[in-house]
Amino acid sequence: MIDIHCHILDGVDDGSYCLAESVEMAKVAAESGTEQIIATPHANAPGRGELPWGDMLVKKLAGLNKKLKEKKIPLTVCPGQEVFCTGDILRLLESGEIITLNGSRYLLAEFDFYSRAESILDRCDMLLSAGVVPVVAHPERYEALKEDEHTAYRLKRRGCLLQLNSGSLFGDFGRSSERAAHGFLAEGLADFIASDAHSPYVRTPFMADVHEMVSDMYSLDYAELLFSENPGLLLRDKEIHPFY
Ligand SMILES: [Fe+2]
Repeated sequence: MIDIHCHILDGVDDGSYCLAESVEMAKVAAESGTEQIIATPHANAPGRGELPWGDMLVKKLAGLNKKLKEKKIPLTVCPGQEVFCTGDILRLLESGEIITLNGSRYLLAEFDFYSRAESILDRCDMLLSAGVVPVVAHPERYEALKEDEHTAYRLKRRGCLLQLNSGSLFGDFGRSSERAAHGFLAEGLADFIASDAHSPYVRTPFMADVHEMVSDMYSLDYAELLFSENPGLLLRDKEIHPFY
C-alpha cells in the first residue's frame, strides 16, 4: 500500500511530536503493509502558522528516511503537503512556498470544514486552470459534501480526485462522515484511501483493517485501486482515470 496523506514529519504541525514518534509511525505503517508514505505537513492554514516548504522540511524528510534505513524499516517517505486552499494558492505554488505531492501534478487540497460548495469548486477550478489536479482531502468531513452528494459529482466531473480518510470508514469522525465516506465508496466516487495519521497511538497509519473492510464490503479490486494502484500512479505523476 501507499499512504498519500500522513503527518509523519516531526515538530512541524499537529502530527508527530519527535523523530522517535515518526519512526514509530513508520513501523506501524510498515507492519500493516504500507511501503511508501507521502509526508503531508499542513501548509498555508490561516492562523495556524504552518511552515512553507523549504530547507527545514527537506532536512526533516532526509533525516527520517536515513533513520528508517538505519533501523531497517522497509518504508520510504516522499515529499508533499496538505495545502489549505486560499485565493493566492497559484502564487504560492509558483514561489515554491507550497508543493504538490512528490512533485507531481496532484496537490492535496484541504478547505474549511464549513466552506460553501461554490467556494470549494472555485478554488479547485483555479488549480485545474493551471494544470494542477486537486486531490480533495477527506471530502466526507466537509459539510457541503455531506449535505449534497451532487457536490462530489461536480468535483469529479471537473477532474478533481477524492481521498477518503481510513478512520472515517470506522466512524472515527462521527456518523455523518462515516455515512458520507461509505456513500462515496458505494457510488465509485473515491479515488484514494489514506490514513491522515497524526501519531502512532491515535489516528494511526495502520490501514490493513480498512483495506480488509473495503475488500469485504465492496471488492478486492476496488481496495487495490484505492490503496495501491491510484497512489502508485500519483507517485509517478501518471494520469488517474476516475472509477465512476
Ligand atoms: Fe491531514
